[in-house]
Amino acid sequence: MRIFILLACTAALLAQRNSGQRSSQAPASPAAIAKGRDLYLGACSACHGTSGNGGTGPSLVNGLQVRRANDTQLFESIRGGVKSTDMPPFSNFKDDEVWSLVAFVRSLSAPALTSNLPGSADAGRDIFFGQAGCSNCHMIAGKGGYLGPDLSDAGRLRTIGQLNESVFQPSARIEKGFDGITVRAAGREIKGIAKNWNNYTVQIVDSKGELHMLSRAELDRMEFSKTSLMPGDYDKRLSADQKRDLIAFLGRLTTRQEEAGR
Ligand code: HEC
Ligand code: HEC
Repeated sequence: MRIFILLACTAALLAQRNSGQRSSQAPASPAAIAKGRDLYLGACSACHGTSGNGGTGPSLVNGLQVRRANDTQLFESIRGGVKSTDMPPFSNFKDDEVWSLVAFVRSLSAPALTSNLPGSADAGRDIFFGQAGCSNCHMIAGKGGYLGPDLSDAGRLRTIGQLNESVFQPSARIEKGFDGITVRAAGREIKGIAKNWNNYTVQIVDSKGELHMLSRAELDRMEFSKTSLMPGDYDKRLSADQKRDLIAFLGRLTTRQEEAGR
């Protein structure tokens, strides 16, 4: 066993020295990730899913395998495959192509904060608190609205892929505890987020942050919405540059001082 590990390490070290691409600690460049994405869509997505969520192959987004492996181990798994599984070897790729695949696979599960994001976070902040009106519904460091989740730590808790999906396809996956609901009682309509409900009561937080505790017996109508309360048209409303800047801003949000300012 020890000999095997030693051999594996040597092989890995040699592979890294030969390729001389980058140290495994430095964040990958956006260009490497983009190149890796292209290769991934051609060679890997059939098994691991277009967004890495898995299919016949395991998820590369939530999988612990990827988080536990260092870059060199990922390089080896991709170059050499995983023996006695369906993960085939990709020995025809050049070293720099395999490294870009490593960079892309890493970006699938890495917190956005640790990624090297293109764009201007300052411009993104202006869009968030200005034109796009995100702050009407979201709080960052105590500033903003109540309807959506607090985003103060979004860069540490979410991957780039998750941020992109939640901003540009909000209804693809609705954040737990943020289901939209509309009720009507005594001619009054209340719309907001359902915080708690059972057979007898329902608690709703509206866009002003007000909590309504209602008895279900008094309601004339109660309807959960199938889509997110977040506008679904930002993908069309914002330019490519604005989207990039917005994600750059969100991706750097953290409440942990020591990790900020990267
Ligand atoms: C024919 C299906 C298939 C294709 C194509 C495929 N994979 Fe896999 N992959 C798998 C399976 C199955 C596993 C799980 C292996 C295991 O059980 O450990 C896996 C595992 C992995 C792992 C985790 C390995 C580890 O333990 O470190 C990575 C990373 C990975 N694949 C990346 C890729 C990349 C990148 C490509 C494209 C270049 C690719 N895969 C193409 C089926 C596939
Ligand atoms: C009308 C209110 C509203 C507006 C405006 C709005 N959002 Fe949201 N947002 C929500 C709600 C509600 C959710 C939770 C439901 C869901 O997952 O879609 C949410 C979810 C999110 C999430 C996922 C949160 C998480 O914990 O993963 C992100 C990120 C986000 N919004 C960013 C934005 C950005 C950026 C903008 C502006 C471009 C924006 N939102 C505008 C209401 C809003």
